[in-house]
Amino acid sequence: MNLLVTGGAGFIGANFVLYWLNKYPKDTIINLDELTYAGNLENLKTVETNPRYKFVKGDICNPKLVNQVMEGIDTVCHFAAESHVDRSILSPSTFIETNIVGTHILLEAALKNKVKRFHHISTDEVFGSLELNNSSKFDERTPYNPRSPYSASKAASDHLVRAYWFTYGLPITISNCSNNFGRFQFPEKLIPLAITNILEGKKVPVYGDGLHVRDWLFVEDHCRAIDLIIRDGKVGETYCVGGLTKDISNLEVIKKILKILNKDESWLVFVKDRPGHDRKYSIDWSKIKNELGWHPEEDFDLLLEKTVSWYKDNRNWWLRLKKAEYEKYYKEQYKNL
Ligand code: NAD
Ligand code: TYD
Repeated sequence: MNLLVTGGAGFIGANFVLYWLNKYPKDTIINLDELTYAGNLENLKTVETNPRYKFVKGDICNPKLVNQVMEGIDTVCHFAAESHVDRSILSPSTFIETNIVGTHILLEAALKNKVKRFHHISTDEVFGSLELNNSSKFDERTPYNPRSPYSASKAASDHLVRAYWFTYGLPITISNCSNNFGRFQFPEKLIPLAITNILEGKKVPVYGDGLHVRDWLFVEDHCRAIDLIIRDGKVGETYCVGGLTKDISNLEVIKKILKILNKDESWLVFVKDRPGHDRKYSIDWSKIKNELGWHPEEDFDLLLEKTVSWYKDNRNWWLRLKKAEYEKYYKEQYKNL
């Protein structure tokens, strides 16, 4: 396959590029990434001289460039996005531009260049919020009900992707996954923020009562799921991808991290809640299990320990990211800390 990966310098994209080049020795990848604050070529150092890999710095909202890189591509794997809910609350415009307009530009180019598969990476957040103390889960038939500028922009992009299948016959697939964690995650998201704050001697901010629930998916399990969908998934279909956690609250996740790092609960600080904060996400991943044989491989606690170790061993990687733009963002987001 000749793949175009968008957003391959980000967290999940970089894990995916490394996974794919390692697993498929005949395939080539072009990585189109604008290198926003979240893009980091250090993630891809081990493949930068690989003749089967090429990096192109550029914006998915640039139709000329997108058409150029799409030439000769048979498979598009679209990760590029503005991905952080809190930033979407502070400044939504780039979310509309990248997530909606950028996806549309890619779809047009994919159609024009007759790609064989356009796989779109989306989120469970498009489904809205579940109630606490209720066992219902999101699945592929759950109606869309996004509640943040981020999730609304991702929902809009999903609708466009599906429209290009129904209207123009573009061979698409979509995956809606839960919260990922693992190496290379930018330290603005809960798990890397908690780990790196503690390693820097700072407290961990907990929004509201801390009882919000997320479904945690290890990034390498996610890469395997995308691989199966691209190769064996049915065109036009959506697959929900989730992890093995069972209704674990943010507070419980942070306490596990504190325990791994031998810290007590004085390292927690409760802060003002996020506006419109979704209470709970939970994913029913039985469709991808039954149709494609996918399941997450390892237990959350083990993978969390592995992730904490990675951040401990790669201090320079995240220390660099926590400077400049990040400091400004952190001050604005966590005003009283
Ligand atoms: P990320 O923020 O770590 O990386 C995004 C990447 O996209 C960066 O490398 C950035 O430079 C690039 N990018 C941003 N705007 C661009 C533009 N206009 N043109 C080209 N490149 C651009 O994101 P992530 O966590 O790796 O998420 C990847 C995808 O997975 C996103 O579509 C996101 O919505 C989705 N997703 C993420 C999670 C999660 O937990 N991280 C969960 C569900 C879905
Ligand atoms: P986050 O990693 O931003 O992912 P998402 O909002 O896409 O689920 O947040 C995960 C959960 O952790 C969410 O309920 C918000 C909460 N949270 C905190 O309590 N403190 C923080 O500093 C951050 C970043 C998130």
